Amino acid sequence: MKRENLMLTHWQIQRDADGLAWLTLDKAGAAANALSAEVLSELAQVLDELDVRPPKGLVIRSGKAAGFIAGADIEEFTRLDSPEKGRELVARGWNLFNRLAAVGYPTLALIRGHCLGGGLELALACRYRIAVDEPGTRLGLPEVMLGIFPGWGGMKRLPEVIGAPAALDLMLTGKTVDARKARSLGLADLCAAPRVMEASARGLVLSGQAPRRAQGLQAALGAWPLKGLVAAKARKQVAAKARPEHYPAPYAIIDLWTRHGGNALAAPETIDRIMASPTARNLVRVFFLQERLKGFGKECDFKARRVHVIGAGIMGGDIAAWCALRGMTVTLQDQSLERIAPALERANKLFGRRIKDRLQARSAFDRLIPDPQGQGAAHADVVIEAIFEDAAAKQALFRALEPRLKPGAVLATNTSSLKLEDLRTALERPERLVGIHFFNPVAMMPLVEVVAAEGADPLALEQACAFVRSIDKLPLPVKSAPGFLVNAVLAPYLLEAMRCVDEGVAPATVDEAMLAFGMPMGPIELADTVGLDIALAAGKQLAGGAEAPRCLAERVGRGDLGRKSGQGFYAWAAGKPSKAAPGPVPAGLAARLVQPLIDRAQQLVADQVVADADLADAGVIFGTGFAPFTGGPLNDRKQQQR
Ligand code: NAI
Repeated sequence: MKRENLMLTHWQIQRDADGLAWLTLDKAGAAANALSAEVLSELAQVLDELDVRPPKGLVIRSGKAAGFIAGADIEEFTRLDSPEKGRELVARGWNLFNRLAAVGYPTLALIRGHCLGGGLELALACRYRIAVDEPGTRLGLPEVMLGIFPGWGGMKRLPEVIGAPAALDLMLTGKTVDARKARSLGLADLCAAPRVMEASARGLVLSGQAPRRAQGLQAALGAWPLKGLVAAKARKQVAAKARPEHYPAPYAIIDLWTRHGGNALAAPETIDRIMASPTARNLVRVFFLQERLKGFGKECDFKARRVHVIGAGIMGGDIAAWCALRGMTVTLQDQSLERIAPALERANKLFGRRIKDRLQARSAFDRLIPDPQGQGAAHADVVIEAIFEDAAAKQALFRALEPRLKPGAVLATNTSSLKLEDLRTALERPERLVGIHFFNPVAMMPLVEVVAAEGADPLALEQACAFVRSIDKLPLPVKSAPGFLVNAVLAPYLLEAMRCVDEGVAPATVDEAMLAFGMPMGPIELADTVGLDIALAAGKQLAGGAEAPRCLAERVGRGDLGRKSGQGFYAWAAGKPSKAAPGPVPAGLAARLVQPLIDRAQQLVADQVVADADLADAGVIFGTGFAPFTGGPLNDRKQQQR
């Protein structure tokens, strides 16, 4: 292979004996490839050089183990300080990829690992795409999750290649597909095994085959008059999930595709509006907060393989299932096999939903081992206690458990409300007990609080964070304090909502106020979902002695406990509340409801229960679903102070 004489930092280009050019992106000083301004400008130089001496074909690939290209450089996005810069950013990729799409020689993207956002837009500008069939290969245009749009040609080319309905689905949800799905959608021409990927690339790029385009009905759906119907349907689907005042980007994507063929430069005012929107700024902030959470536990090389969970109830059962889903070997202990059986049944359903391949679903099920005798405790790297919320029962359990643990095993409790300092008095080595506090429902909630009691072993805490990452959850280190972070901020918020009900505001109106604010669920429905008895108990513990709202105490007194009893603030059937139409929302209601949550979050930062305001925002967003487009409860306050 011959090297070109270009001076490049991020790309390498080599020509082989057949006259093929192999262009490899290996962004200097980074673990993953991102399309920074510098990377794109070097690509332009490469295209200049290839214009002078055109190759027989060009294959673009990655030099990183992490994947193909993760997307644009999001750091650069945060530095845009004028509308001109936003437009320049869009023009940079749009023009360059149009140029790539127009070259006279055939081009191919060899996609192994993640190929996201700008990375997929680059691949779409190539004549052919091969997706390497590996677990890490994921293709998608997730820009919408950052509050922006795929402006480098994705909105134009994805519909052309796979048809508008599938393309809009990918762009509006931000979801990604694996290599096989990419092949079946027509996004990839071929799905190849790693050992034949280069040979496949060589064969395809020189094949002379016509580039893939949506055909027949799929093509017609991208042209008038059907285009209008497709757009209307997409708009309706988006409206069911996101309000335009909160999330303008998906609406902009539909408009840019319908009216401008995906060319955002034809609608500069849309670029300005979206790029400068607080939503985009805040969602990018949330992205970086998420990255920060992902960094916890990275420092230690703890690799958990075996997990032992004690208590197969709502939480223990679902924690065990989740760990097995994520590849751990899990033993699940309870007082009898009968008590473990319902958890296994739920796990089976989870695997069926989440794992398409039946053999793999089966092996996840095989990794989840019922263990009424608790034999797994002696072999486990992580032991999680999730039995009844009873201090004496937990202490007795720890006392019996400790001598049987492996020396380096992490010992954790999932307690919500008991003090770790009290629970660990039963241990010979009290400093080893940490909190690993999951949220209900385990499969849905991304956050896990990792709780440090006074004097806890720092290594055990690091290892707990590493374990939480290894099962694909986001660890948030918190100090041991009533309610930790998430429940502590939720309690005053729920209580305020119920005080409004005491004052005569209808529950559905209270909920509507917070849905309009951007919460995924109203506070009254949330209380019904959690269970009113639990809400009452948590309120007593976390409300600093304030009297319980009348509407709550009365319902608990009558045995109306919410969803689980079929009646709470709402009547529940088949897991759904029946709600009357909300009345008009009184002015200032949402602000009143959210204020106690903000105040408590600030207090917890001041008390160092959570290390700083950014982490508090991260915890509240990922632990409660707090409106992500706001950037978190304390973000607003920071913005107001600016
Ligand atoms: P649960 O009542 O559904 O399950 C508890 C299970 O523990 C039962 O199956 C019981 O048979 C078993 N158990 C009791 N003593 C045992 C022992 N000595 N050995 C083995 N098994 C024993 O309780 P749930 O709701 O799952 O809560 C468990 C823990 O998780 C509690 O500490 C709770 O505070 C915490 N938690 C609960 C959340 C929730 O939403 N339910 C959320 C987060 C934490």
